[in-house]
Amino acid sequence: MHQHPPAQGGLESGSPYEPVTTGIPDLDSFVDRGLITHIHTQLTSGKEGTVYCCRAHPSINRKFLAAKVYREHAESSYKWDPTYFQGRERVLKPKIIRAIQARTEFGRAVAANLWVSAEYENLQKMASCGVHAPKPIARGENSILMEYVGNGAGPAPHLDSLDPRDNTTQIYFDQILEDIARLLARHLVHGDLSPYNILIWKERTWIIDVPQAVDVRFNQSAFELLHRDIKRICDFFAKHAVKRDPMKITTDLWERYQRARL
Ligand SMILES: Nc1ncnc2c1ncn2[C@@H]1O[C@H](COP(=O)(O)OP(=O)(O)OP(=O)(O)O)[C@@H](O)[C@H]1O
Ligand SMILES: [Mg+2]
Repeated sequence: MHQHPPAQGGLESGSPYEPVTTGIPDLDSFVDRGLITHIHTQLTSGKEGTVYCCRAHPSINRKFLAAKVYREHAESSYKWDPTYFQGRERVLKPKIIRAIQARTEFGRAVAANLWVSAEYENLQKMASCGVHAPKPIARGENSILMEYVGNGAGPAPHLDSLDPRDNTTQIYFDQILEDIARLLARHLVHGDLSPYNILIWKERTWIIDVPQAVDVRFNQSAFELLHRDIKRICDFFAKHAVKRDPMKITTDLWERYQRARL
């Protein structure tokens, strides 16, 4: 797994309840706000940013929290892709849209901020409609503090590492489809669903990584994105002897969504 040794200060030394400086401004702000005490481990350093497992402050009713700290200038992000941008612009002033499209310094800062807000709000929506996704706890300037899926020994494994002999495969497939349907009922399509953005923990699938999710009501590519998500999941499960037709699943879901039957 992508587990790296802790890279910064503020690591597991001394009492777990003694707040320390982490050296990372966003995490320090969570320490100051009494949400975490220190970094337990750095989990990954991905295209969007770095994810840490942090020790939760004793006033929080859990042992660990995950902090996703975004890279402000992540170039490979969907954030610049017009397919995903469509629908987000509707609440922005034309001047701001122009700055984002021209990628001026100001435009990049606004886009970065909107991106973090989008993930935070999508996690809130997911929590409120019963989708198994990490519950958001707090927002930092470039970061999100959320429920941690895993334990002190490490984060939950990705769906990708599922053992083909695992006899709960069909159950996982059904859980994912159920969550896709719940999301769609809230007008959302994940848009980057894959066996790497799904974790397995305690016989349950958890959907993560949602800044790019699109609102079906305002995005003309929503059906294609939904089909791509479902196809990736079906392709993966086909290797685990669960054979399903992605286009049929997509059109059935879409029809139910349009008739408000989800
Ligand atoms: N809440 C969480 N609990 C446990 N692990 C998490 C959590 N959130 C993220 N992770 C771990 O961190 C990894 C990266 O998170 P995420 O996919 O949200 O970020 P990303 O920047 O898009 O990274 P990537 O490019 O690897 O997809 C996940 O694949 C997972 O292993
Ligand atoms: Mg990811």
